[in-house]
Amino acid sequence: MELTYGTYLHIERLLQLQEPRSEPAEHDETLFIIIHQTYELWFKQLIHEFDKVRADFSAGDLYAAIHTFKRTRTIMKTLVQQLDILETMTPTSFSAFRDRLDTASGFQSVQFRELEFQLGYKRPETFSFYDESYPGYERLRRRLTTRSVVDHFYDFLEQRGAEIPEELRKRPADAATAPSEPLQDEIVRLHESQPDLVILIELMTDFDEGQQEWRYRHVKMVERTIGNKRGTGGSLGVEFLRKSLFKPVFEDLWAIRHRF
Ligand code: HEM
Repeated sequence: MELTYGTYLHIERLLQLQEPRSEPAEHDETLFIIIHQTYELWFKQLIHEFDKVRADFSAGDLYAAIHTFKRTRTIMKTLVQQLDILETMTPTSFSAFRDRLDTASGFQSVQFRELEFQLGYKRPETFSFYDESYPGYERLRRRLTTRSVVDHFYDFLEQRGAEIPEELRKRPADAATAPSEPLQDEIVRLHESQPDLVILIELMTDFDEGQQEWRYRHVKMVERTIGNKRGTGGSLGVEFLRKSLFKPVFEDLWAIRHRF
């Protein structure tokens, strides 16, 4: 059969994937499903891009990394903006189908966790929300011990002349990135002598600001939609989500802003 728009993109299959559960049908449930599916597709793209960045960093390819961070930053801005659409759903409308979600929650988004782990925000405790048969579980397990974007950033900085503190290199594979003052001194030193690095550092900071913005906008949307109700995933809801607000993934880059 001749390749067409529809067959190449599997459009008919894609359009079968929205299955509202509310009876009688609640109009807004379609939006709720489509927006989550759209997020998951963008998460897939981000993971794909950051795998490329990991390789770019280790190859010392500054321009390739700059190019990709420009893209991931732009995707992140789009992800933040999309929350505006969901905010057109009123609390009453959401309540009409919320109990149909049972215990399903964004909490269980494997790709969101993968992205966190990939960036270096490794939270092994989040495995307690999945059992081994959960789709994507194995992928997430592998991601936990795969070197993060930050680990590859160290490779890049080393090639640019930075001395990477031994303890950063020895950090267990499943441990979260932690800020390091000696590394920060090295980044400031390189920043002064190699102006082309400035572009990369600004773009990494842009992306990081974007992911913090997403957390803020998500928690505000949650607050206006369900108030202080518990989450369908079983957490305290807004109170739980507030804990990861303002959490950067590239902590060293934020710690040195006053030194530029
Ligand atoms: C009306 C809309 C929404 C409500 C009321 C809502 C509510 C919540 C709540 C209460 C939690 C905390 C965990 C729990 O106990 O369930 C949570 C977590 C989460 N939600 Fe949403 N959410 C909404 C839309 C979205 C959308 C559109 C996404 C996009 C993928 C999303 C992704 C996530 C993620 C990734 C987490 C885990 C965050 C973390 O662990 O740091 N949520 N959500």
